Parts: sequence; structure tokens; C-alpha cells
Amino acid sequence: MQHDINRQWWKEVVVYQVYPRSFKDTDGDGIGDLKGIIEKLDYIKSLGVDVVWLNPVYESPNDDMGYDISDYRAIMKEFGTMEDFDMLLEGLHARGIKLIMDLVVNHTSDEHYWFKESKKSRNNPYRNYYHWWDAERGKPPYRWSIFDHESNAWKYDETTNSYYFHIFSHKQPDLNWENPDVRREVYEMMKWWMEKGVDGFRLDVITCISKDTSFPVLPETMPVGDWFPYYAKGPNLHRYLQEMYEEVFSKYDCMNVGEASGVNINDALLFVDEDRRELQTFYHFDHTGFGISKENFMYADDNNRDLVEWKKIFNRWDKVFEEKGWGTIYLGNHDMSRMTSRFGNDSHEFRELSAKMLHTFLLSMRATSYIYNGDEIGMVNTNHTSIEKYQDLYTINYYHQLKQKGEDCQAFLASHSKISRDNGRTPLQWDDSYQAGFTSGNPWLALNENYQVLNVAEQEARPDSVLHYFRSMIQLRKKNKTLIYGAFELVDEHNRQLFAYTRHLGSQKLLVVLNFSGEEASLDTEIDLTHCNILISNYSMPSRNKLYNPFEAVIYEIES
Ligand code: GLC
Repeated sequence: MQHDINRQWWKEVVVYQVYPRSFKDTDGDGIGDLKGIIEKLDYIKSLGVDVVWLNPVYESPNDDMGYDISDYRAIMKEFGTMEDFDMLLEGLHARGIKLIMDLVVNHTSDEHYWFKESKKSRNNPYRNYYHWWDAERGKPPYRWSIFDHESNAWKYDETTNSYYFHIFSHKQPDLNWENPDVRREVYEMMKWWMEKGVDGFRLDVITCISKDTSFPVLPETMPVGDWFPYYAKGPNLHRYLQEMYEEVFSKYDCMNVGEASGVNINDALLFVDEDRRELQTFYHFDHTGFGISKENFMYADDNNRDLVEWKKIFNRWDKVFEEKGWGTIYLGNHDMSRMTSRFGNDSHEFRELSAKMLHTFLLSMRATSYIYNGDEIGMVNTNHTSIEKYQDLYTINYYHQLKQKGEDCQAFLASHSKISRDNGRTPLQWDDSYQAGFTSGNPWLALNENYQVLNVAEQEARPDSVLHYFRSMIQLRKKNKTLIYGAFELVDEHNRQLFAYTRHLGSQKLLVVLNFSGEEASLDTEIDLTHCNILISNYSMPSRNKLYNPFEAVIYEIES
């Protein structure tokens, strides 16, 4: 069904996510910095992207790589200064690129002033900024913690003989959003950044800000997925988002995207229906289980790669936003392994083909496209199986939990290495020189050893590279609004190898065919492809006979 297009700039943009720690180091400490991003502004511009999403650059002790903020109005020293930040913002704006900041307000660092005060005494003015449970009440009802080395979300603090709550690591205490002072401080801080000129926010784990703060005892058995009401999507979530909209978003022409764990197709519109004045967009996780064990998401599972099911997920989500709201599309970010390894194929034979195929997908769906840095050249996983190679507390803490329980740590690493977050965090590979041109020192996380063959410089010089294809695909999306707003309809939906769909807007109708497999595949459709215009393909002789080469991607114009 074709509805009137409600055109908005933030629906049309391509967002490029920069992970500052691994982007470009200019002072030789092995850690990327803001000056490094500034140095690469022309490169970012050359990609054709419109918005940069910067992972957290605020002051932080880095327990969780910047997602533990100790000062929202200061820049992490390793990354530079506020002057550097201002220069970066100016440089982006001068090139017509917008900047969205990562907003981490479900929790702070335990080194934030608020928390340091809060833990001093039970009657400190900041006490209620966090969730405390006085020990006289007995032990608080168990809550699982995602990054805790004991998997316990309550940490005992002897200063006041109380426990505090932290969904993530014990150095990331949850803010108490029930306290109006907390909310006021957050909105003021957001406005402070907006007044500086930033263009919006990516809202970290935003569904967690409201939770059941009576902390009831968990049911004895709780199927995966049923934990949300206890940790997220609490009774006041929509009230707080509406308040944030009124206090901040409504005052600026800005963009926002929430990280929305637990949001499903049934409640999606409660967040992004324009009339409700909450969020513009969010991203869900339904498709990210591909290649991951259904029983335990710390493990990979190659058997869990059913393309037919995967297509259904995208189809379902597209339908949600047919009349109202708007979606996002991504296959990689700093919390995921590399998209080419995970959803494509990183063998020598198929690495480039599959990376191009995935870019064709990301840039031809009805949703705002998000591209993670490094994916523009098709960077791949490192797959480390030795714990010493890891920096991510998520992997390290889980490993130690297993070790304590006497479980098989090596089997864990062998499996987890395919999906670990550090795969996506290795330094950007600029060229084949020392340390890939990322740093003159020792990188904080080891480079992928393939940097001598896989790097930006090599791809710049080669017209058929992933990088050039990515740029062409962005231009194609910009020229053909059908790729942004056109109605989406699956074609040959039961095909187990091909992901094919039409996009239709006005008189233009496009057919996108993507072979997600390393084998030939044939498309079952009545559509005649012999004479139509081919807009792009990752093969020099794209198929017209409905038989597709491994990882082939083609976009046909079937009506114009
Ligand atoms: C989000 C971030 C992730 C971080 C977590 C805790 O999921 O993307 O990197 O570890 O929140 O802030």
C-alpha cells in the first residue's frame, strides 16, 4: 500500500557511525582521537554520508569504552579537548554533514560526581539519583547483570550498608529516572549540547530508563525475552520520552534514534508515531540473532541462519511503518561482529562480493540507513580465541564467570570469537604501512592482520573496490527516492538463498535481487528482466536470466 510520503531529512540521510577509539590516532598513544577524525573529514565527506554518529566521547574511566560517563560536559582526555570537539563539529558542518551524539543516560559511571555524592550517606542530596536498597531490608531480589563478573545487578556498598542497582557493569550504576531532578539535569545537559550545535542524539539503552522500581522477586522460570518488564519498558517510559520531547527535541530541528531493546512490532508505534511526540526512530534487534545461538546469545550458531525467517523479520517491520513512524536499518555497529563476516562471507573469494551485496541491501530498504565505520571497505572479523586478545568487558567477564564455574572456556571462546564485539572494534585500516596508518604507537586493540591487503588506500586506487561500490550505492539512493520511500514488497519470499523485493514509488518500480549464498540461485518470478534498465550490480555482467551468481546483487528498473 502506498501512502502519502511524509518527507523528512532524517528519513533520507545515510548515517555513518564513527567509533572514535579505533578511527585514527594522531598522538601516538594507540587510541583514536578527535584530531584523527578531523584529519579524515574529507574522507568522510567523500563517502557521501550525511550524518555522523559519534560513539561516546565524554569523560569516562572506560570500564565499558565510554558508555560509563563521569562528566557529560567534558571530553575524554585520550580523545582530546572541547576545542577539538568544537573544531570537529565545525568541520563537519562546513562539509554539510550533521553530528549526532551518543546519549548514555540510563546509567553513569560510578566515578560521576552524582554517584560519588550519592554513596556518601543515605541523606545526601544526590542519594535518590540512583537506586539504593538498604541492607536492613535483606538482600535485594536477584537481578541478572549483563556485564557483571558475578552476573549480579546489585552491588553492596559498605559506606552506607546498602546495595545499588546496575544493569550493566558495577561501574555503571543506573540513574533513578523516577527522580524529577535527574530528568531535569539530563534535559539540561542535552540542551547544552544542542546549543553547542550538535544535531541530535542516539539514545543508548533508552527503554531501560523506566523499570519496575519496586524490584519484585523474579519468577522462578523466565523465558528469554520475558525479562523486559523487570529491566526496561517500565510504567513511565512513554511519559519520560514525551517529556524529553517537549523539553528538548521539540525545540530544535534535530534527529534522534533510540536503542530499543525489547520493543516489538506491537508496541513500536507507541514510540515513533509522530502524533505521540516521543522518538523519531529506534533500532530493534530482531534480525541480529542470525548466526547466534537461540539458547545463549554469547555463543555463535551457524545453524541459526534461516534466510526465509530473516526476510520475514524485515517484511514484518516494514509493514509496521507503512502508515506512520519510520524505521532504521543496520547490519553492523560497535556491539556486533563485522557485517561481512556475520551476514556475508569473509573468505578471500567472497569477501568483496558479499560486502557489496550487503551495502546494496542497507541502502535499498525503506528505513534510515546506518553504516558502521570500516564496513565501507568490508572489514572482517579477527576471530581471536585467546582471552588475552580481548579488551571488551562483556567477553572478559563472561569468560571469568565460566572459569569460576569450571566450564569449558576454550569452547566458549572458539564460538564467541565469531560474534564478539571486539571484532567490530579493531582499528580502521587506512593503508598497508606500519599499524595500518592508524597509529604510530601500539594500538589499544590489535589490528586485524589482513590490513596489508584490506585497507582504504588500496580500495581508493581500485575502481571495482567495495569502497567505490559503497559510494555509488549511496548516490543511487540519493537519486532514486524510490529506494527511500517506495513501497516494499517481497518477491519469491520462500527462496532460501535470495532476498528479493520490489520498491515502488509513483511510476518507478525497482527490483532488488540479493544472493545471500555462496552458490548459484534462481529467482522465481514472472517479471521479465531481459530488457530492463540495470541501475547497479556487483558483477560486471549482471544476470538477466534470473540465475544469480554467488552473492550477486542487482537492482533493476522494471518500470519507469
Ligand atoms: C549499549 C551500547 C553498548 C554499551 C551498553 C551499555 O548497548 O551500545 O556498547 O555497552 O549500551 O551502555
